[in-house]
Amino acid sequence: MTTQTWGPDLGHPDTYRDGVPHGLFAELRRTRPVAWIEEPPSEGFAGGPGFWAVTRYEDIVTVSRDPAVFSSHQGATFLRDQRPKDLAALQQMMLNIDPPEHGKMRSIVSKAFTPRMVQGLFASVDAHAEAIVSGLEPGAEIDLVEQVSAEMPLRVLADVLGVIPADRGLLYDWTNRMVGLDDPSYGGLPAFLSAFTEMFGYAAEQTRIKRAHPTGDVWSTIVNAEVDGERLSAGELMRFFQLLVIAGNETTRNLLTGAVLTLGEHPHQWDALLANPESLPSAIEEVLRFHSPVIQFRRTATRDTVLGGQEIAEGQKVVLFYGSANRDEAVFPDPDRFDITRNPVNHLAFGVGTHFCLGNSLARMEARALLGRLFARFQHMRVTGEPERFRSNFINGIRRLPVHLGPAAQES
Ligand code: HEM
Repeated sequence: MTTQTWGPDLGHPDTYRDGVPHGLFAELRRTRPVAWIEEPPSEGFAGGPGFWAVTRYEDIVTVSRDPAVFSSHQGATFLRDQRPKDLAALQQMMLNIDPPEHGKMRSIVSKAFTPRMVQGLFASVDAHAEAIVSGLEPGAEIDLVEQVSAEMPLRVLADVLGVIPADRGLLYDWTNRMVGLDDPSYGGLPAFLSAFTEMFGYAAEQTRIKRAHPTGDVWSTIVNAEVDGERLSAGELMRFFQLLVIAGNETTRNLLTGAVLTLGEHPHQWDALLANPESLPSAIEEVLRFHSPVIQFRRTATRDTVLGGQEIAEGQKVVLFYGSANRDEAVFPDPDRFDITRNPVNHLAFGVGTHFCLGNSLARMEARALLGRLFARFQHMRVTGEPERFRSNFINGIRRLPVHLGPAAQES
């Protein structure tokens, strides 16, 4: 078996300092679509056993649809191996559970994400979009992330979890500390660990309240839902709360920021969108393809197998690079061209197969509501500086994006 190392450390957060390295991924797809990557020790990281980087669309679909061979449970879905104690806790989270147990949990939580439930959130999602956008001053220079993109998913998530407005800031702080372990500006390991303790205490209290007095939100539905007479256990509920806080926040925040950044880099496409606002849903799909918010999720091989012609040994890590699949020339003609009229856009930004994103309709609804209102309110907008990026090998994140807002559209 070939286990030759290839080029840069795709597991290292600094590899994504200037964004997803699309040139490297294109080379990998062409020359080594399933490539062995070493994990040498680095600051704050003792090193790991290495992993297979899967970069082609078709191979990512194969892996995601075969959880019996490519487990989300064995080592969980974080790229870097966890300490045994942490792994055991993570393995209670739906994302890190394989069939058949995964099916039981998914059928419980799916009750809270049916098209009817999600459609029922439309009025409040739209009201949040309206409130955020109407609070922006025409002609102002803003940080889009702080004032717009972070605010939207946070408000929606607070509604989903039945969290009162005064506690929204807690959600924001926890998610930054949990996802920002590799980013020193969020306080490192102590801040990361204490975020879990604080959040689980809060989630336990929310569960107690929503069991006693269900209020029709998603969390009330989940804590009271049963399959075959069984409810989710306390541990499963804590982990699901955590999953929603992370999954519902960072990803959508970076879809919104990514949309403005990418349109700013493609002014003709932006003009075309403003001239034809009905194309917003397809523009959002193209942003998801072109600027995929999630960099990767991991699997572990449960037995010796072959993927894309490469032998993989039992126990080895297999990492799925979604942003690479979404630029795969075998699926998307001229993949590095951003084109809001591209149709269809069968991207993998929400994953595929067993763990396909449960929140995809909600994220799309948020993006349509927020970007629709933002682009309608101002005659034009301009990105005025470089994005400040989030240091992470997991979220393709932007911490700050300076944007100049034009005059209000109705003044034209
Ligand atoms: C643009 C926004 C989003 C992106 C790009 C995204 C991406 C993803 C991806 C790639 C997966 C698959 C993980 C895997 O296969 O291992 C996933 C799963 C999941 N996402 Fe999302 N997500 C987004 C928004 C949301 C939102 C808003 C929620 C909920 C409020 C959510 C909840 C979930 C859950 C619960 C799972 C696990 C499903 C399972 O294990 O069966 N996501 N997401």
